[in-house]
Amino acid sequence: MTDVIEETHGVSRRAILSGTAAIGAGIVLADMATSQANAAPLTQDEIASLPRVKQEMVAPPFLPQHDQVATGGPKVVEVRFEIEEKLMIIDDDDTEIWALTFNGSVPGPMIVVHQDDYIELTLVNPASSALEHNIDFHASTGAMGGGELTLISPGEEAIFRFRATKPGVFVYHCAPGGVMIPYHVCHGMNGAIMVLPREGLSDGEGKAITYDRAYFVGEQDYYVAKDEDGDYLRYDTAGEDFADFLETAATLTPSHIVFNGAVGALTGDNALTAKVGETVLVIHAQANRDTRPHLIGGHGDHVWADGSFSSSPQVGLETWFIPGGAAGAMTYTFRQPGFYAYVNHNLIEAIMKGAAAHFQVEGEWNDDLMTQIKPPTAI
Ligand code: CU
Repeated sequence: MTDVIEETHGVSRRAILSGTAAIGAGIVLADMATSQANAAPLTQDEIASLPRVKQEMVAPPFLPQHDQVATGGPKVVEVRFEIEEKLMIIDDDDTEIWALTFNGSVPGPMIVVHQDDYIELTLVNPASSALEHNIDFHASTGAMGGGELTLISPGEEAIFRFRATKPGVFVYHCAPGGVMIPYHVCHGMNGAIMVLPREGLSDGEGKAITYDRAYFVGEQDYYVAKDEDGDYLRYDTAGEDFADFLETAATLTPSHIVFNGAVGALTGDNALTAKVGETVLVIHAQANRDTRPHLIGGHGDHVWADGSFSSSPQVGLETWFIPGGAAGAMTYTFRQPGFYAYVNHNLIEAIMKGAAAHFQVEGEWNDDLMTQIKPPTAI
């Protein structure tokens, strides 16, 4: 049971221990990792002879199994995304949207690789789809981020490969051209990839940063149209709301701003979990609008707000800014148990539109950090 719980959080104890062990095992590995960063281009034959690994995708907020410190040299990481156009409920009032998804979730699954690895992505658009789709990786270099190489009609699949040259967290999204780009992105067709430095994360001053759990929060703005009575419209098929979307999106006023596809996807029974003393990595992506994450009752211990692991993290932040079209990352070591809200700290967007998550944290209360001197009492 323990294994299951820990593995669903994307970072097994085993992986952490092996990562730590790798650091402890010596400078040889660290040197090798550093020297391989931004390695020289390989020939097609050399790439063909690299080790290949299949990454099993998991639905957010979880991350696929991964090592924090790379072992060995660059690999070819095989990823398969199947596009799914599906009707989703996005709030407590049963408002519907025909979501456009990678692998059936909003956001799409997180991919995790190390710098200088190759990602070989198979994109599948089933014959049952109504629309053509593709994928643009902000982590990649060349031809519309892969968009030109992956544009596929229903009933087609394409495979493309790119090298992860820049370490950081990056958005990917569908970009099939013209107004279809915001239409697809605002119907859920986006996600993120984490490209870890081969030697793992660090504070920029030589100290390693490791995490016990990792979560992927994908913030999504929707623009659902209303009828003349003020009720949200419903549609029979994907794509049918296109004309209405053009009007609602042009207002730049989302009907919903949510984490992980729907109001409440990460709150209540779906709350993220942690224990006092654990360090949690949160990757937060917003493919379309600016956002400003804040952990109520905690802080960003280390924050890469712009998502680049080439930069040193900022420390001890209250709120940080992630521009639309980017992912950011932060780590926090929980010091107190209890209930925390993790929000977009435009509080109208958090509370009235839906951009809020919860953390439920187990452990012992620290009276030194906070205590109640007098409970609410009549004056
Ligand atoms: Cu698409």
